[in-house]
Amino acid sequence: MSLRTTPKGAVQTDAHASDASRNASAQIAPHNHSTHLKVTLPALLEKKRSRTPIAALTAYDFASARVVDEGGIDLVLVGDSLAMVMLGYESTLPVTVEEMLLFTRAVRRGVRRALLVADMPFGSYHASVAEGVANAVRFLKEAGAEAVKIEGGRSRAELVRALVEAEVPVVGHIGLTPQSVHRMGGYRVQGKSLSAAEHLLEDAHALEAAGASLLVLEGMPRELAAQITAELQIPTIGIGAGPECDGQILVLHDLLGLTFAPAAKFVRRYADLGAQMRAAVQQYGEDVAARRFPNDAESYHLPSETRSQMEQHAQGSQRKKA
Ligand code: KIV
Repeated sequence: MSLRTTPKGAVQTDAHASDASRNASAQIAPHNHSTHLKVTLPALLEKKRSRTPIAALTAYDFASARVVDEGGIDLVLVGDSLAMVMLGYESTLPVTVEEMLLFTRAVRRGVRRALLVADMPFGSYHASVAEGVANAVRFLKEAGAEAVKIEGGRSRAELVRALVEAEVPVVGHIGLTPQSVHRMGGYRVQGKSLSAAEHLLEDAHALEAAGASLLVLEGMPRELAAQITAELQIPTIGIGAGPECDGQILVLHDLLGLTFAPAAKFVRRYADLGAQMRAAVQQYGEDVAARRFPNDAESYHLPSETRSQMEQHAQGSQRKKA
């Protein structure tokens, strides 16, 4: 369940990189859809300045990443929401760094134009700043991400500074932070009281001051998100945070109708792929049962010479038997 029910070759091969990182870069196949300029962090900052909305979506595999990128989306997030929508867990907490790296590599191979951001999973940056930096570096080095996203406010400021120092661009994430589901007592809209709103506003400023490049605002009142957006220089990307954010993000599976729980209030379903897939699968099963699939046009055929030789052979065997 999801509550939130250069042109080509952007990644350069580092001559001193490990085999894993060389492979991550080498496996990026050229696509033909990279006719538009590569989206970069400075380009997203410019969008905020020019008040041009930023469109972001999640993607978790090669095919959907390619479709999202070809659809002209600015930012693709390999969200840890994949724990729920791809792996069927009840929260985002169980997914590991290795799993996130695997999905990020697949998405990297499908994305050319959009900025690729990878989520740091729960536990990968909580024990120490050094461990957080080491894990974050892996997402850039081994999987081709261009930034990492971490959840939390002012308590992450030291980590954000260390990441920026290590040349790892950071996307912050405040408000309803799904990795804090137990502390929050469920997936609840945050910042509804004056003190909670002020707290989030200060968190936003702390992350910006620490060097975050973007800020995801999730599950908070529209008025608060609007104020944060107006006060920050860096772009805000909203999910359940109203229309005044500099950009919007949705979980791809929510937008496509591929989730199994009722959608949250802020989700707009642009398709019902779940229903279409169910109907297609059912039709296939019925066609196989009734021998309607495959038909002659869907079958391979012998060359006519071989076919007549086989027929003669079969006739000869029948004559012998008689
Ligand atoms: O994990 C995720 O997909 C997210 C967003 C939707 C912001 O964090």
